[in-house]
Amino acid sequence: MSDSLETGTMVPLALGTVGFLGCGQLGGALLGGWLDAGLVEPERVLVADPVTAQALAARRGVRPATPGEVASEADTIILAVKPAQAARLLASLSFQLGQVLISTVAGTPRARLVASPARLVRVMPNTACRVGRGFTAVLATPDEMPEDIARVVRLFEVVGEVTTIPDEALFHGVTALSASGPAFLFAAMEALADGGVAAGLPRDLARRLVVHTFAGAAALAGVPGAVPSTLKDEVTSPAGTTIRGLQVLESRAFRGALLDAVAAAADRSRELERT
Ligand SMILES: NC(=O)c1ccc[n+]([C@@H]2O[C@H](COP(=O)([O-])OP(=O)(O)OC[C@H]3O[C@@H](n4cnc5c(N)ncnc54)[C@H](OP(=O)(O)O)[C@@H]3O)[C@@H](O)[C@H]2O)c1
Repeated sequence: MSDSLETGTMVPLALGTVGFLGCGQLGGALLGGWLDAGLVEPERVLVADPVTAQALAARRGVRPATPGEVASEADTIILAVKPAQAARLLASLSFQLGQVLISTVAGTPRARLVASPARLVRVMPNTACRVGRGFTAVLATPDEMPEDIARVVRLFEVVGEVTTIPDEALFHGVTALSASGPAFLFAAMEALADGGVAAGLPRDLARRLVVHTFAGAAALAGVPGAVPSTLKDEVTSPAGTTIRGLQVLESRAFRGALLDAVAAAADRSRELERT
């Protein structure tokens, strides 16, 4: 636990050796985001993953490792295996005093993950961390040490926005909105691009328009005080093109479908918690 990195104007963030237990879609996004931000040196990163470790070693210079090596050598450990594998994997390993284990696992309460004497912090990030535009919720209750929370918050701030959440029950909604939510939006983007092609646009142009339309809409909605329904009204002129499209969305229960999708994802997270 020797090196540290100055981030922003704050005190150095001491990470030591960073280890990944599982490094697939999410782990890979975090690893890529942190490496690209210069937060960690590749040679100080251990990756235990039967599928991705060798390729990541070749591409990014990280060190492939066994889960046992991660547990014995890493100071900061990211748990990013699927929910069904998480508790059993932790139970098979011996952790060290002073280690911080960060669980990204959906639908798996903190209490079910035993990594003592390492300290555990539960987070819910999303894959946009790969490009520094992620959103991460960090569980912060009296059970977590304030210095661990501060360290984890700063770690995830390097790859996006962070919020602390005082109640673990809220993780179901966070998982549904910001972790599953990107997939809902990608499905919408794909369909909108098809709509552009149906209207005669070349595929590449349709995709570019969709990406910039989403980015622009997100930027407008992110202005403090902005309200999506008002922004919608502002681009909807009487008898214009937009209201004609909105009529179709309403008749096909577009908003109800999105609402139900988020509720279903949250239900699935609760279901995972019970299994
Ligand atoms: N993807 C997201 O957008 C997202 C967002 C928020 C949170 N999460 C959480 O992140 C976790 C990982 O999700 P993911 O989408 O990244 O899954 P993933 O792409 O399947 O990655 C998990 C990786 O862990 C490997 N693995 C399995 N058992 C292992 C073990 N014992 N030791 C080391 N590596 C092992 C898997 O290999 P095998 O394929 O051989 O099993 C796989 O390569 C999940 O718990 C999920 O809830 C994901």
